Amino acid sequence: MSLTLRTQIGIVGAGPAGLMLAHLLRLEGIASAVIETRSRGHVETRVRAGVLEQATADLLVETGLGDRMRREALVHGGIELRFNGAGHRIDFQDLTGRSIVVYGQQEVVKDLIHARLESGCEIHFNVAAVSIHGFDSAQPRIRFHAGGQPREIACDFIAGCDGFHGICRPSIPAGALAFYERVYPFAWLGILAEAPPASGELIYANHERGFALMSMRTPAITRLYLQCRPDEDLDAWPDRRIWDELGTRFETAAGFRLAEGPIVQKGVTGMRSFVAEPMQSGRLFLAGDAAHIVPPTGAKGMNLAIADVHVLARAFRSFYRTGSEDRLRGYSAACLRRVWRAQHFSWWMTSMLHRVGGDSGFEYRRQLAELEQVTTSRAAATSLAENYTGLPFE
Ligand code: FAD
Ligand code: PHB
Repeated sequence: MSLTLRTQIGIVGAGPAGLMLAHLLRLEGIASAVIETRSRGHVETRVRAGVLEQATADLLVETGLGDRMRREALVHGGIELRFNGAGHRIDFQDLTGRSIVVYGQQEVVKDLIHARLESGCEIHFNVAAVSIHGFDSAQPRIRFHAGGQPREIACDFIAGCDGFHGICRPSIPAGALAFYERVYPFAWLGILAEAPPASGELIYANHERGFALMSMRTPAITRLYLQCRPDEDLDAWPDRRIWDELGTRFETAAGFRLAEGPIVQKGVTGMRSFVAEPMQSGRLFLAGDAAHIVPPTGAKGMNLAIADVHVLARAFRSFYRTGSEDRLRGYSAACLRRVWRAQHFSWWMTSMLHRVGGDSGFEYRRQLAELEQVTTSRAAATSLAENYTGLPFE
């Protein structure tokens, strides 16, 4: 016999989407249960996104999660685009009046977990054998094992916040969703280094040898990426080779130098654009990476996840207050407008900055012409700045 827990919203996945949804629902007095296959330690230390759009940061503050972020995060008023050995600043403040906030995804996740546990609510970490049932009926169920025992959540709705490799999206009957996808022929080798960032703002570099990005987490920790092959073998990249390659890709005529330090984390991330439509099937709602993936060049993934659950929490609030399902029915269309805007922007940034194999030189020269325009035309720079800093939440 499995133990059944009854709640209003069953949430699969404790990444930014699932945790933020649980947080927004709690503020509305709506009960939820969150299950997560990994440990608390794992989700709190997974190094991923680093850039919050202003609207995302504002939402964290408005919902009581801003204390540590306000103390520790870095507010940036622009980014640098670097090509042909010279840097060009895109001034977000001047062009849009908006900024971005550099604060690690795992810090957002830690703040969300802390807030939920502090409020007396649970998160079921380390669960296994998760499956979802009956979301085409009024009695959806989530089944899983916890501590080796079978468990069940009976709920009104299921939120599939279990990321790109989760089980929710594949549980939807074949043919009910359309998938739109592009896989890129390159990846990012990312490192976290105990070294002060060599510049106050992020640097996106297009170099003949490939793309490179300098980001940061704190005034003492730099996050760096360099374009590599999707099947790149990390063993072929000892620390010295990584620093030398980064040094080459960021070099300027003015003699720019990266600060080097111990590399404390290394990984390769594939690049993909993906959208599942609609983001709903019956009483199952997909949010975040479970529904869509963007290449990281536009820094949009976590922001989209937070934007989705902001819309979803409002739709649930409307349902529980009025009994009307209108907002729930409009969920997918409302999210997809922002998703496709971010898809276009992320694809555009990616195609402007990465080297493609087999290029005769045409692509590279086209990119330089595009970068030249983005950094000299106020109209073109404004378009980049508007997209990067993001749309306000509705
Ligand atoms: P996830 O964070 O993937 O969370 C899903 C959770 O579900 C996970 O904890 C997983 O363990 C859990 N899970 C999976 N299967 C199950 C199951 N069956 N049952 C229960 N739980 C399950 N985005 C930005 O906005 N800005 C950036 O600067 C940025 N940079 C990035 C850099 C890198 C290198 C990478 C990899 C990503 C980056 N992103 C960035 C993207 C961002 O990290 C993701 O979009 C974000 O994590 C999506 O959140 P999510 O909650 O939807 O999914
Ligand atoms: C990061 O800090 O990890 C980061 C920043 C900007 C991006 C992607 C990743 O576009």
